Amino acid sequence: MENRFLGKSGLELSVFGFGCMTFSDGVGRFGATGATHGEDAARQIDLCLEHGINFFDTADVYAAGRSEEILGEALGKKRSRVTVATKAFHRMGKGAHDVGLSRRHLVDACEASLRRLGTDWIDLYQVHSFDALVLPEETLRALDDLVRAGKIRYIGCSNFAGWQLAKALGISKLEGLSSYIGQQIQYSLVARSVEEELLPCGVDMGVGAIIWSPLAQGFLSGKFRGGVDAATRLEQMGALKAYDNPRCQKILEAIDSVVDGRGGSVTHSQVALNWVKARLGVTSILLGARTESQLLDNLGAATWSLTDDEIAALDRASQVALHYPVSAQFSYAAERNPSVFKRYG
Ligand SMILES: NC(=O)c1ccc[n+]([C@@H]2O[C@H](COP(=O)([O-])OP(=O)(O)OC[C@H]3O[C@@H](n4cnc5c(N)ncnc54)[C@H](OP(=O)(O)O)[C@@H]3O)[C@@H](O)[C@H]2O)c1
Repeated sequence: MENRFLGKSGLELSVFGFGCMTFSDGVGRFGATGATHGEDAARQIDLCLEHGINFFDTADVYAAGRSEEILGEALGKKRSRVTVATKAFHRMGKGAHDVGLSRRHLVDACEASLRRLGTDWIDLYQVHSFDALVLPEETLRALDDLVRAGKIRYIGCSNFAGWQLAKALGISKLEGLSSYIGQQIQYSLVARSVEEELLPCGVDMGVGAIIWSPLAQGFLSGKFRGGVDAATRLEQMGALKAYDNPRCQKILEAIDSVVDGRGGSVTHSQVALNWVKARLGVTSILLGARTESQLLDNLGAATWSLTDDEIAALDRASQVALHYPVSAQFSYAAERNPSVFKRYG
């Protein structure tokens, strides 16, 4: 398994990490995503380790804290061998301070995550979303204090807009505070909006990208063409209709061509994962797997890579129109804007 540095930090992550949003006993807001726990969770962690994954991502809000507990239990003594990332932001109780990025909530949330994970430290502590009601100075100083106290080692953000990330990086620099070294963002053949701003911003400013939903929550596996399975997340969330359009069909057909061109020796999921692996600025891609067979399928993506021609064909099939102002820079000001986004074709 290839390892990559997260942005300009010294934290090296396996190019595929494991996302623990499927760890649950069926409770909480994320109940539809899965219910892996106990020996099944331990087995999935072991499979990851055997295949070279050293990076595990969870969040306090997944299964109302159970995902962190299940990960901690499954890792046990192996904890020191791996990088553990978790997140805070989402509402964890009814109180005024049970949500958001205030110092009050982040310190409490961090202590609670440490307890649930059964660890003395969190390697990468990520703010799960932007909080427009709290000054970023307060958030960054609280995170910096947690770093200095040895409770967390690095900090990251998730689901920020480009300006929010750039502003936070500027504040960290000006105030001498810990900086976000990674951004956790949605990216797949279906969802390419991060190419306009977030990925170029990360490349320019040394912030690595950790990717969520690389399979568009299972759609890119192609399995829904064979009929709908009631046990799947997309069906349970009633979200399949979002993919019922010509672009998504074209993407699946482009994946078909790669699979057929390789004589069926690779799978649709592996093609979709490897397309993300080939993109500029990507450090680690979070594998989501409800079952062991899905995990084994996805782990297979680490054993091969797409050719340039295959990538170009997938790029073409999944192409989306650029939005203003990137569209204007691309078409009218390209001479003075050899920006990184152009390298996405
Ligand atoms: N920061 C954020 O806001 C955020 C948001 C979402 C996720 N995340 C992180 O990213 C991780 C991955 O996200 P994700 O779970 O949405 O990833 P994903 O890879 O897009 O979707 C995973 C789901 O697709 C289906 N699937 C996976 N592999 C398959 C295969 N080989 N064949 C058929 N179906 C397959 C399974 O669902 P079914 O079997 O139910 O169809 C599985 O649970 C999460 O665990 C979490 O750590 C972060």
